[in-house]
Amino acid sequence: ANPEQAQLLKIHAEATKLYHHVLVNTPAGKLALQYLTQRGMTVDLINQFELGYAPDLGADKQILHEYAQKAGFDYQLLRKSGLFVERHDGQLRDRFHGRVMYPIKDSHGQVIAFSGRIFGKKASANTPKYLNSPETDIFNKRRTLFNLNLAREAAREVGHLTLFEGFMDVISAYGAGVKTGIASMGTSFTSEQVQIIARQVKQLNIAYDGDEAGQAAIDRALKLVEDTAPNLNLRVVQLPAGLDPDEYVQKYGAIKFQDYMEHREETPVDFRLSYLRNGLNLKKQSDLIAYLKAALQVIRVIPDPLGQSVYLKKLATEFGLDQGSLERQLAELPQPQVVTPPPIEDNGEIPHGFDPPP
Ligand code: CTP
Ligand code: MN
Ligand code: MN
Ligand code: MN
Ligand code: MN
Repeated sequence: ANPEQAQLLKIHAEATKLYHHVLVNTPAGKLALQYLTQRGMTVDLINQFELGYAPDLGADKQILHEYAQKAGFDYQLLRKSGLFVERHDGQLRDRFHGRVMYPIKDSHGQVIAFSGRIFGKKASANTPKYLNSPETDIFNKRRTLFNLNLAREAAREVGHLTLFEGFMDVISAYGAGVKTGIASMGTSFTSEQVQIIARQVKQLNIAYDGDEAGQAAIDRALKLVEDTAPNLNLRVVQLPAGLDPDEYVQKYGAIKFQDYMEHREETPVDFRLSYLRNGLNLKKQSDLIAYLKAALQVIRVIPDPLGQSVYLKKLATEFGLDQGSLERQLAELPQPQVVTPPPIEDNGEIPHGFDPPP
């Protein structure tokens, strides 16, 4: 880190302490603490993840700005920190008001940004549920994965990382003993993040929310990983309909969650074969034929013939079809193109300034 980046890290470290203090030790943090407790957050988790609260004490009270000025931080640095918004007259105001604060850390555990969540009121266009720091000299969204600093340690033991949709999913899973969880910033998952994951582990488990948006996002994420890091093994854990991982933990508890995450993992082919059924009525002949055609396209991509025939047999059995005719259909499909992307260097380092291949 250059001197300016070091200062940016410093103001983030100070802000983390301040927001955490407000949450756990002051009357101003009482409602936020209640909210988190009602959501099942324990004191241990709140401390481990250094959750905080940015209070809303009226227009004249900007606690972080006052604190930063007293601490002697330079105006230009504060402008570039992303923690403030600049008024027309150049005055800085705190960016975060009335939000539960989730510090976002780099792979070394240093806070580089925040996400703030509203509670007790409805989100709107002006008031998003989560408000994230803008990009800065220390925060590149495309390269950041929430909780990678802790998850990479856990991944060393179990051999995989687990991709969730949200911060709360990562934190709840961690509290429930699934410590390999990471999340991309917002719903977009990038090729840079895939490269970073592929440097750490040989397998990625994807466990997005159990809703339509989650399924569609799994489908996109699988494709992105296959295109970016074809040697990274993939598994999907589909959550029950209507639940995200955090809600699963709250509803069924840690043991059931661990068990679910361990035993419900399926291959990308399994996921796709079930995902393709959405919106189809397989009792209808035209839908069934459309499904079988799409399913054969999925099976075609499996590299080994044995793997292919296992799935063909499943299909044949399920729909009472002749396996041989499915095999002939498959043979008639054009062969998939094999693309070999450049190898990913395995130096164990998180890259800075790494550019993905074109
Ligand atoms: N997200 C965001 N901005 C929003 C909504 C969502 O950045 N306005 C991101 C957050 O990182 C969030 C993730 O998308 O964690 C998943 O969204 P969602 O499933 O709606 O939120 P949850 O993680 O379930 O959050 P919560 O349980 O607190 O409602
Ligand atoms: Mn503490
Ligand atoms: Mn969701
Ligand atoms: Mn969710
Ligand atoms: Mn949730």
